[in-house]
Order: sequence, then structure tokens, then C-alpha cells
Amino acid sequence: MGKIISLCKRRGFVFPSSEIYGGFGSCYDFGPLGVLMKNNIKKAWWEEMIRNHENIVGLDAAILMKPEVWQASGHLTAGFADLLVECKSCHKRFRLDEIHEIQHPELNKLTSGVCPECGGQLTEPRKFNLMMRTLVGPVEEEAATTYLRAETCQGIYVNFENILNSMRFKIPFGIAQIGKAFRNEITPGNFIYRTREFEQMEMEWFCHPKEAEKYFDYWKKERLNWYLNLGIKKDNLRLREVKKEERPHYAKETVDIEYKFPFGWGELEAINNRGDWDLSNHSRFSGKDLRYYDEGTKEKYFPYIIETSDGADRSFLAFLCDAYQEIPGGRTKTTKPTKEVEILLKLNKKIAPIKVAILPLVKNKPGLVKKAKEVYQLLKPHFVCQYDELGSIGRRYRRMDEVGTVTSVTCDFQTLKDNIVTLRDRDSMKQIKVEISKLKEIIQKILEGEEFLKLGKLIK
Ligand code: GAP
Repeated sequence: MGKIISLCKRRGFVFPSSEIYGGFGSCYDFGPLGVLMKNNIKKAWWEEMIRNHENIVGLDAAILMKPEVWQASGHLTAGFADLLVECKSCHKRFRLDEIHEIQHPELNKLTSGVCPECGGQLTEPRKFNLMMRTLVGPVEEEAATTYLRAETCQGIYVNFENILNSMRFKIPFGIAQIGKAFRNEITPGNFIYRTREFEQMEMEWFCHPKEAEKYFDYWKKERLNWYLNLGIKKDNLRLREVKKEERPHYAKETVDIEYKFPFGWGELEAINNRGDWDLSNHSRFSGKDLRYYDEGTKEKYFPYIIETSDGADRSFLAFLCDAYQEIPGGRTKTTKPTKEVEILLKLNKKIAPIKVAILPLVKNKPGLVKKAKEVYQLLKPHFVCQYDELGSIGRRYRRMDEVGTVTSVTCDFQTLKDNIVTLRDRDSMKQIKVEISKLKEIIQKILEGEEFLKLGKLIK
């Protein structure tokens, strides 16, 4: 994990938040390459949901909502709390489920726990609510207290009727949303895996209760395939059925998609059958009847909700971990192996932050630099490009491989005579010759997945 964190900092993917002030407990900022990559993940998810399904629409609801929403959803009551224990000696706090040494069937009656850090005695567990409270308005009074949303989906449920009516939908249909969520986690950690501010990509599928099982199964498969299609290795993914006692308070059934992170298997996404928990509770608390009326069958009922809830930050981490490779001595066979360890980030082409690097062979020949900058200007409106002239060409290729740049364009002395450049493939390191006039079209084909070697004359 340390190597991933170091790459993220060194190459501008992720920085600790407020770093010049010593950092701020498990908060992170996405740097220039990080924001490109995270946006690519969100775009891939959005396209999958909205473009590939005709009856799913998008929403961007406010983060701040009336506190009653959280009362109705059950998040302010015992449902949304972790059991917390504190060490009486070092005062460190732990989630009870973290204390692996303690295998007590009745979690609330824990008596024999010891602190994993210092061996001190632990307190009795108590419930700790994870909602983040905030004040809205200039006057610090009770009426102005609300919460930062702990899951984005509540904004979807309170808009169920608005969307049903404005889009003239019939059940089944889905609403998708991407946005920030906040939880006062007791023990954030493992880099961006568990943080207090994070981003979710959630889709809520409203269906007839009798069809809930069918759609639960459907979405489980769809979501697993999404990761596989974006190149995550099959062996690093698994589905885990979540037992009743572990399930969130709103769920009738939960399956987690887990990824094999360097620190072990961890939840990447939750697929929940939320039954009618949300719509029936919002009906009860708001006084608004949110039942659906089926014109055909004359039936009035609360639709069941099948939810797919993905963490954008966890997906980001999983894509990085899965793509990361170290090659001691380097991959090049044409030159002597070095003592260095070469890093290759074999990211899926859709996810990679930079698509094209433009490199003059050397930087001290003005004609070559000028040509390479012309190529850069030609490609920049169409692809995320980076121009780089610093260091030897080999070093520049390594630098691009390290951040997963899909392809590199090199302008050499011959280019000045014939307007032909060299295109290098990140994964195979193969090189082809391509006319500048055809470059845009060929790069487009590469990004769409066409076989590299079929697109130009092989030179290496
Ligand atoms: N609406 C359902 C829901 O929020 P969840 O299992 O609590 O379900 C869904 O969260 C996903 O959100 C998780 O699978 C994870 O990817 C992400 N997530 C949850 N808590 C997180 C945290 N503290 N830091 C980063 N991501 C988190």
C-alpha cells in the first residue's frame, strides 16, 4: 500500500489535505492526475447507468436536507451507529468489529477486551452515531442544526414523486446520482479506503415487490461485470453475502462486491434490497403518500428499492492497485537492464488520466520542439495530452508508463522531412509509424480498443 500512496503523492494523484498544516485526519485532495482519473471513473459509471439503460435518469440533489429526512431514514437513531470501545490507558478508540481478538457473541456485553495497541483495558462498547452535524444559518440555535448527508440516495427518495411525475415514468425505473457523502467514522484509514468525506455513485431501482429478487440478481451481475469490463482482474473480485446481523438497518438483503486490496478483502460496492423501508418511512414522516398507483392493475403499493452503491474513491483505489506493476530492471530488452524498478500502471484506456504524451526526441533542436508543439496543439482539443521534453526519451517513456499514459507520440529528425511520427503502445512497448495527418483518427481507434499493430507500420 505504501508504494501506491507514494506514487499518488509523487505523480499528482492524491495529496494529504491541508498538508502544509500537518494534514487533517484522513482527508485527501485529488491532484491533477487524480481528478482526471476520478472523473473518468465517474463518467464510465454515469454512461453505464444513463446511456446503457433507457429507463434510468440522473439527479443532483443538495447535500444539505431537512433534518427530518434523516429521522425518517433511520440514520439519527440506533440504526446508523457503530459500536465503539475506548482504551482506558491510551484512550485510542476502535470500532468493535475491528477488535478481532474479541469473539464475543453478545457484542453489547463485552467485558474481556484488551487494546490492540497497548494491551490496556477497553471500555464497555457504546453506540456512536456517524452523522456529521452542521449549523445552517447565522444563529446557533437548535432549529438550524442539520446534517451532511451520510448517503446520497436519500436525495433520490425525497424526489421520487417529482421524477415519477416530471418524467412520466412507469415502474420499474431507476435514478442515478453521484455526489459527496460524509460520515464521522471512528477509525478512518487505509489511505482513501475509509475517509470521513467521500464520494458515492448510487443508483436506486424502483420496482414491484414481486420483482425485487429478480432485479437484485440482475444488478449484482451488472455491477460485477462493470468492474471486469474496465479491466479489474477476476481473481481480485468477489461477491459476499452479508449476514442479517451485519446488514444496514434499511436492508432486507445485501451483497457486497469486494476487492482484494493490499491490506485484504474490502467492500467496494454494496447491492441492497431496501424493500419499502425508505418510501414507507418518508411517507409516514412527511405525511405525503408515496405509494405508486398502477393504472393497469389498479394496484397501489410502495415500490421496493434495489440499490447499487459504489464508492468513487474506493473504486479509484481498486483501479490503481489492480493496474500497478513493478518490473525490477525494467522492461526494455534493447538496452542493458538498469538497477531501477520500473513502474507500469496498466490502467484501462477509459480510466487512464492521460491518453497521449507528445515528445520531441531531444529538446535542444528548435525545429523538433516546434514540430512536437504543433502536434500537441493538433491533438489537445481531442484528447487529454501531455507535452514533455525533459530528460532522455527512455526516461520520458518510463515516466508516462508510471502514470498509465495510453500512447506516446515521438517526433524525430525524420518527422521534419516526412511528417511521420512514432506512436508507442504503453503495454507492449511496440512502436508504429504514423502520418501526422492520420494521427487523430488512429489515436481515436486505439482508445476505442482497436489492435495497435494493425494501425501502422511496425518499427520495433
Ligand atoms: N446507500 C447505501 C450505502 O451508503 P454503504 O455500504 O454504507 O451503503 C456504500 O456504502 C459504498 O460507499 C461502500 O461500498 C463504499 O464504496 C463507499 N463508502 C462507504 N463509507 C465510506 C467511507 N467511510 N470512505 C470511503 N468510501 C465509503
